[in-house]
Amino acid sequence: MSDYKLGLDYAKQQDALDELSSYRQQFHIPKDKNGNELIYLCGNSLGLQPKSTKDYINQELEDWANLGVEGHTEAKNPWLPYHEFLTEATAKLVGAKPIEVVTMNSLTANLHFMMVSFYKPTKERYKIVIESDAFPSDKYAVESQLRHHGYDDKEGLILWKPRDGEELLRYEDLEAILEAHGNEIALVMIGGVNYYTGQFFDFKRITELGHSYGCKVGFDCAHGAGNVNLDLHNSGADFAVWCTYKYLNSGPGSLSGCFVHERHAYDKNLNRFTGWWSHNKQTRFNMRHEFDVLPGAEGWQLSNPPILSMAAIKASLDMFNDVGIKKLTEKSKKLTGYFEFLLKQLGEDTIRIITPENPDERGCQLSIQVLNADKKLHDKLTEAGVISDWREPDVIRCAPVPLYNSFEDVYRMVEKMKAILN
Ligand SMILES: Cc1ncc(COP(=O)(O)O)c(C=O)c1O
Repeated sequence: MSDYKLGLDYAKQQDALDELSSYRQQFHIPKDKNGNELIYLCGNSLGLQPKSTKDYINQELEDWANLGVEGHTEAKNPWLPYHEFLTEATAKLVGAKPIEVVTMNSLTANLHFMMVSFYKPTKERYKIVIESDAFPSDKYAVESQLRHHGYDDKEGLILWKPRDGEELLRYEDLEAILEAHGNEIALVMIGGVNYYTGQFFDFKRITELGHSYGCKVGFDCAHGAGNVNLDLHNSGADFAVWCTYKYLNSGPGSLSGCFVHERHAYDKNLNRFTGWWSHNKQTRFNMRHEFDVLPGAEGWQLSNPPILSMAAIKASLDMFNDVGIKKLTEKSKKLTGYFEFLLKQLGEDTIRIITPENPDERGCQLSIQVLNADKKLHDKLTEAGVISDWREPDVIRCAPVPLYNSFEDVYRMVEKMKAILN
């Protein structure tokens, strides 16, 4: 969009025109010591709390207090099938079929469970490809899988790297990796939206490439779920995992989402770790029954899930379901484009945005490098009431989240940055 304008009036005008602006009132916005709202641009790290979350959790606390164990079947939202209440909205949000998604465990744990099923190394084909700047937990997880299967984690890991002097990854370089090593690679596992640069990858292209060489393909969508239109089913990916505490606003350390493509839904021969929650619901409590795996993503569950965390996820998903990812991404593109426009006014010799310029190749996050800056700049921004995050060596990540950030937030952030730089 090239018709952005400077000035606070323009920002206010855009907020007045924004049909999603009322959602901000549905969140608790953190305040400074004097009770003034902070400019919170950190939804890429921890999303804000919807005001409705407390009621959703209180409902379960009350049912627990009043019903004890009977709540499993008698609670207003019975706990035995509680995870099913999240299925439809989750599927819609990530572009999947209901049979393909489940909410369970934490993110890194789910990544391991997916690799139990989709990383099946052989003597000839055992390598794993990830981005060179993958989130550390993902890198540690794949390295430990290599070691677990008896392979050297340096030799077995292939890094998809940016070219010298660049930050973003090029598909041609991934193609070259597969051309050279395709028949040695068992798994391509990519952070769907890179946590550092904010680059949103073309899942379908990567999946088709990986599959054409006989590799399995999975994505970590921690920075994608609730931020971009994921279209997981059509991408053809074998699996995906994400957390719900960033863009999905479900509280610190909340549960993870998991996608397993429909073509694996009825495959009982897939290697997997199991527990009683992966067993057939009809006979689960018939304790001596032989194991009978559930079809679809539910068949990867292990344990009966934490209802209080799920209640917070339900509160958030109900809101996402109400807005829809289409409207959210439309606003997101406008808001982030406006942020980019204002940052560029600071002078391209001062500010460098390493996130892709193409709105289809990013979500709401912009990763900003400021020339000759160090963490002190970030600290000054924090003192000035802007909550963003700093990633070594020199990047400030800011995410104007379309559900609760305003054009005025973005305007004020850049004004504060300008004042600090001057
Ligand atoms: C891309 C990515 N992967 C993995 C993780 C680790 O998540 P968890 O601690 O929930 O396992 C994070 C956390 O921020 C992340 O951003």
